[in-house]
Amino acid sequence: MPSTDQKLYAAAHMNSAQHANCISCHFVGEFPVQRGKDDLQKMAPNLGNVSKRLRPEWTKAWLTAPMNWMPYTKMLTLWSEPYGPALPWDKATLSPKPHSGEDQVEVMRDFLYTLRPDTVWPKAGEEAKSPVVQGGPSEAESTGPSAAAEKPEKGKGKAKKEKAPKKHGSIGSASGTTG
Ligand code: HEC
Repeated sequence: MPSTDQKLYAAAHMNSAQHANCISCHFVGEFPVQRGKDDLQKMAPNLGNVSKRLRPEWTKAWLTAPMNWMPYTKMLTLWSEPYGPALPWDKATLSPKPHSGEDQVEVMRDFLYTLRPDTVWPKAGEEAKSPVVQGGPSEAESTGPSAAAEKPEKGKGKAKKEKAPKKHGSIGSASGTTG
């Protein structure tokens, strides 16, 4: 389970147009109807479903290099050098400071596994007090699959396999109706 600081770091940068900017394409929880009307072309999958659909190892690989998995995806590759230095993210601080792109990917990825299909996503600037950051581990334990609990520890070997990797690699269905 990510710490409050890690959750804030992830959420604030996901909301920030100057940083990860995930929420300009994605949404979390309820479908944003107005955005859907205005900009359907740009709507990307509900990140609240990640914990239900995707294996943690795969999600990390996807975030690191979406184009390796789907050459024509609109999703941007943030870390041109995933094992290189961290991007200069300054919306929130973490200590120890992430020093590589991989550290940032892992914080982001672990945070995604705390989200649920009905999570209420905070507006930019309102992350710190929101349940996505303040919510305790009990929430994730009671509603989630094993993903959050089996978070791989850095440097402690491999993550345990998810029970049912039924959508492994089938990112193509993400924007379709098969989810
Ligand atoms: C420019 C738009 C855009 C941005 C910015 C973006 N994504 Fe995506 N992302 C997509 C699209 C579109 C897909 C679905 C694959 C496809 O159709 O190309 C996707 C797929 C995903 C998936 C797989 C979802 C699933 O259920 O299959 C995850 C996880 C994800 N993105 C996380 C992120 C995170 C985290 C960020 C911010 C670091 C981010 N994305 C930024 C467009 C974007």
